[in-house]
Amino acid sequence: MHRPAFIVNHLRPALVLVVALAAAAATLVANSPADASTTSSTGTNPGAVRRANPGGPVVWAHRGASKNAPEETTAAYTRALADGADVLEGDLAQTKDDVLVVIHDDTLARTTNVEEVFPDRAPWNVRDFTLAEIKQLDAGSWWDPAFAGQRILTLHEWFKLNNGRAGLAPEVKSPTRYPGMVENLVEELRAWGYTHSSKAKNGAPQIWVQSFDEAALRQFHALLPKVPTLLLRSGYPFMTANDEVLTELATWTTAIAGNPVQTTASQVARVQSFGLRVVSEVEDGPSILSMIESQGYDYMFTNAPNVAKAALAGKQPLRTNRGVVVDSVVYNPEGSDVASNGGEYVALRNTTDKPIDINGYTLREWGNTLLRVGDGAVIEPGSLYKVYVGPGTDRPNAHFNGLTAPVLADTVTDHLYLYNPDRVMEDLYSYIAS
Ligand code: G3P
Ligand code: CA
Repeated sequence: MHRPAFIVNHLRPALVLVVALAAAAATLVANSPADASTTSSTGTNPGAVRRANPGGPVVWAHRGASKNAPEETTAAYTRALADGADVLEGDLAQTKDDVLVVIHDDTLARTTNVEEVFPDRAPWNVRDFTLAEIKQLDAGSWWDPAFAGQRILTLHEWFKLNNGRAGLAPEVKSPTRYPGMVENLVEELRAWGYTHSSKAKNGAPQIWVQSFDEAALRQFHALLPKVPTLLLRSGYPFMTANDEVLTELATWTTAIAGNPVQTTASQVARVQSFGLRVVSEVEDGPSILSMIESQGYDYMFTNAPNVAKAALAGKQPLRTNRGVVVDSVVYNPEGSDVASNGGEYVALRNTTDKPIDINGYTLREWGNTLLRVGDGAVIEPGSLYKVYVGPGTDRPNAHFNGLTAPVLADTVTDHLYLYNPDRVMEDLYSYIAS
């Protein structure tokens, strides 16, 4: 069929352009972490995946990239941004002079050197120290001396570090300990214009406010009703709550949390059918990640955003692996978990046909306990090397860490992170305990 020159020369290219633009727009929408507002309440249709982001769960960096740097520090958040995390998660506390700071615990003892700097100020509650005193503390060495000098961030500094690049999910932690915490948070959000469901530069929801404290979250919602919220509850009861409870929750909060090793796709879809989003509990390993994805979770917490983002993109998460992997874990052997020359252990495997020098390799468990291999240890080709938690006499293919208390979880899930001597994560292994 002869087409007038104009159609051939101008219209077709224009048509092609329009089609291309439409396709690009569709992809953009599909790949940008959806904002919280696109809920779809089309009634209960168990099993149908109606996730906020068709491209897979939106990745929240739990306390930053907290398995590659000390949690909730500049290093952890900078690493999470570099790893492509969609949202940065952090916990709030309040100082004696009413400044909001980012720290998980109610005290400074676990994640700073406060006991050295202020030995006579036990129990070192955050609320008993001024910001100026807290800024004297080293918040990095506890995790690894290589991070000495990291400081506790204020909420303002955390927002400034992010500078709108990724989403932010502050958790209103223990609000009953900190009078005026919710109002303080609202004031900071207003100062940054984070007062409604907007998008960060990476397309993720700019701001989410979470809490285990329902009263505080309702108070927050009353002050900034357009800001998405996540109501946390230990044991994840909302995943199986009745219609009335879910209907009421959907009138004021945006999301609830579940644990993929305890939920089903139908349960996730049912909650979503009430217009609620579902956030997965903190899970790190590729094996559990695929459960989160297949069950249709909207968002997920992870300590290792590099692994989650790569795995969700179908890529090999840890390309630096030199041939040593975590093969298996014995977390609940007969008898004591720290029995002498026995007990719980992690088995490493040499996946090559060459001996591998593993001197200086370390393992970290979810709770940050560090396990070491024996000095000068070598794994024989295709062989195992056992890293025991408890005491015992080393063997060429086994090392005993001499700890007196068990480390590996006997319930729900646990994770092991393998680092080479340059502190680069080479493997991440998750197991479901019950
Ligand atoms: O905020 C979600 C998850 O982080 C809750 O646990 O103790 O890490 O704050 P936690
Ligand atoms: Ca938290």
